[in-house]
Amino acid sequence: MSYTTVDLTPRIGTEVKTDLETLTNGAIARDLRVLLEKRGVLLFRGLKITDEDQIKFASTLGTIRLEHGLQITKITPDEAKSPIFADYTKGTYYFHIDGTYTDMPGLASILHARSVAPAGGQTEFGNTYAMYEDMSAEEQEFLDGLAVIHSAEKIQRLANPNPTPEQIAAWGERVNPPERHPMVWHHRSGRKSLILAHTIKSIVGMNQGESDELLAKLMSWAEKPEYIYSHNWQVGDLLIWDNTGTMHRVVPFDLSCGRELDRVTLLGEEPITGPFRYHTVST
Ligand SMILES: [Fe+2]
Repeated sequence: MSYTTVDLTPRIGTEVKTDLETLTNGAIARDLRVLLEKRGVLLFRGLKITDEDQIKFASTLGTIRLEHGLQITKITPDEAKSPIFADYTKGTYYFHIDGTYTDMPGLASILHARSVAPAGGQTEFGNTYAMYEDMSAEEQEFLDGLAVIHSAEKIQRLANPNPTPEQIAAWGERVNPPERHPMVWHHRSGRKSLILAHTIKSIVGMNQGESDELLAKLMSWAEKPEYIYSHNWQVGDLLIWDNTGTMHRVVPFDLSCGRELDRVTLLGEEPITGPFRYHTVST
């Protein structure tokens, strides 16, 4: 068997139907890379995946990024299973792009559902290419000229309005220094996408009120249903998202329900580039 595809929405998300051997032997890896950039999210359902399969599949698409020395990390609010990520769960309830504190975010992440929430817990993805491409030429030109500052603390404060000093220290600028990026990513392919996320704390050259107003307006545009795919997890689902052309968030769920996803992340392959060169803001 090779593969067939079924689009999950018109603008984002495609289910790929294939068998485990085809998925992991690299035979369709080139096609999947093209499809991933085009569709943002690819779903593989009904395959019995092991950790080794997930790693093998990931390796056919790119270079696996070790996270704290591991190829696979547990994404769960259970601190015993995931001491590294558990505390960040509520921050993921807000749209973001992974790694906007660096100049080269991961290319993609591959999630495998081990245990799902009985209610909530969907992962929602927004197509940041489509959001930009649908704007008028005037709007595109205006956004193209903007630089923004991303901060880990900004998104975490949304989730934790009264943080402890320890939390502030953990999120803070010493760990993830604010990063300056263009608002619009000029990809090597020639396509452009928004780098829109609740990690943006300010727009360079605007006062806080103007900046907050524009960001709220952009987020309300970005959250229009046609740009969003909301994934209802089933145990065993394997899903990959293009982290360079989508934003994502998790629908709130009962943190004690045992929701558990295994994640493999692929190293970024191109730095965020705009019409100007980004640089790290010194603090
Ligand atoms: Fe994330």
